[in-house]
Amino acid sequence: MERSFVMVKPDGVKRGLASSIMARFEAKGYRICGAKLMQMSEDLAKTHYAEHKERPFFGELVSFITSGPVFAMVLEGEGVIEEARKMIGKTDPKEAAPGTIRGDYAILKSENIIHGSDSPESAEREISLFFSSEEIIEQSSAANV
Ligand code: TYD
Ligand code: MG
Repeated sequence: MERSFVMVKPDGVKRGLASSIMARFEAKGYRICGAKLMQMSEDLAKTHYAEHKERPFFGELVSFITSGPVFAMVLEGEGVIEEARKMIGKTDPKEAAPGTIRGDYAILKSENIIHGSDSPESAEREISLFFSSEEIIEQSSAANV
């Protein structure tokens, strides 16, 4: 079954939005097979966002994402990678539609509340960066019906 990595960023955790955001994915029907509050190290931040290392915002991105705890999740369900990105909305909250997480909760591109994997390759890479195999619990789909 398809899995994605989703993470409430430090701004969302500080504002007390982690549980509301997790609830949206649960209500949609995705299963949570891993979840934890964690403080990202600078190394993990740089590895996670390696694709952006030449961009002008990279330094600020790394300091923002390590500025406080994040709430990391592994979600499971059919089509979850693409659908979670739709639920998250556009990168710039000003362009994110109302009803999306960024559209509803954020204003600034640099503090846009949430991360979600953008492809099967990044989902696999990000899940293994953030979670050990023991931290991911296989849930039978029957438990969610
Ligand atoms: P990106 O992967 O382009 O967006 P997304 O999170 O939607 O996959 O960028 C990663 C993060 O970098 C983004 O969530 C916020 C930050 N960022 C900026 O601060 N400024 C920018 O101009 C861009 C493109 C991203
Ligand atoms: Mg991205």
